[in-house]
Amino acid sequence: MLLVRVIVHISDIHFGKTDERTIIPLIRAVHEANPDLVIASGDLTQLARKREYLEARAFLSSLPEPQIVVPGNHDIPLWNPLERLTSPFARFKKYIASNLYPTYDDQEIAVVGINTARSRSTKYGHINREQLVYVREKLCPIPSDHIKMLVTHHPFDLPDGYTDKRQLINRAGRAMKVLAECGVDLLLAGHLHRIFARTTAERYKIEGYGALVIQAGTATSFRSSREVNSFNIIWTNSDAITITRMLWSVEKEKFEPSAEDHFRHTDGGWVPSA
Ligand SMILES: [Fe+2]
Ligand SMILES: [Fe+2]
Repeated sequence: MLLVRVIVHISDIHFGKTDERTIIPLIRAVHEANPDLVIASGDLTQLARKREYLEARAFLSSLPEPQIVVPGNHDIPLWNPLERLTSPFARFKKYIASNLYPTYDDQEIAVVGINTARSRSTKYGHINREQLVYVREKLCPIPSDHIKMLVTHHPFDLPDGYTDKRQLINRAGRAMKVLAECGVDLLLAGHLHRIFARTTAERYKIEGYGALVIQAGTATSFRSSREVNSFNIIWTNSDAITITRMLWSVEKEKFEPSAEDHFRHTDGGWVPSA
């Protein structure tokens, strides 16, 4: 089986509330993966303070390029009502990236990042019509033999036992129709601080379509109340995906490979494989 691309997917690093022991080992583990692309799916900071953004910028600059980085709800300065209303993403643009809708494509994969955070909402995610038009413009024309990916902060699916549907992207069903139309393969997100991967076919009944929701946990934050810190390494092939869960070992003070999730592509979309 020909390996096509290696992607490191980190999320919710939350500078301002990080476990300092995890930072250097995370940087080391990301380099050891030798990725073709690094994706960071939001919540770079805890309170969107300047000091936190500076730390996040230094951290990202220590990781391999290219990178796709999108903001999360914590990257808006909710404590500053004027800035929150008038320029909620000014700090993200100044310290991290001027483009809230980053793209990457090569001969094998195509990636679009979308900003799902909103100044009016402290934690819930949204995707609007203009953003769906953008996704359609960018990903529909890409040949179907490419692995097409959408990166958001907020998730399109929830882990088992998680009942708060407000955590799903608002109007996710409408978005899924566009994603199905364009044959988007992978939906990468964070926000829940839970690491898991599953097909969308269970929640969204779209004939002949099943993308993969790939959720990263929090890589470095103390906010990880339920799980140890983690990130994903995604190994793509044209018709097979393997996701290695990299989990923080408190004893060894390093990230180690844990479970692997395997999926294959069928006429009905992506399904789990042995
Ligand atoms: Fe978070
Ligand atoms: Fe979040």
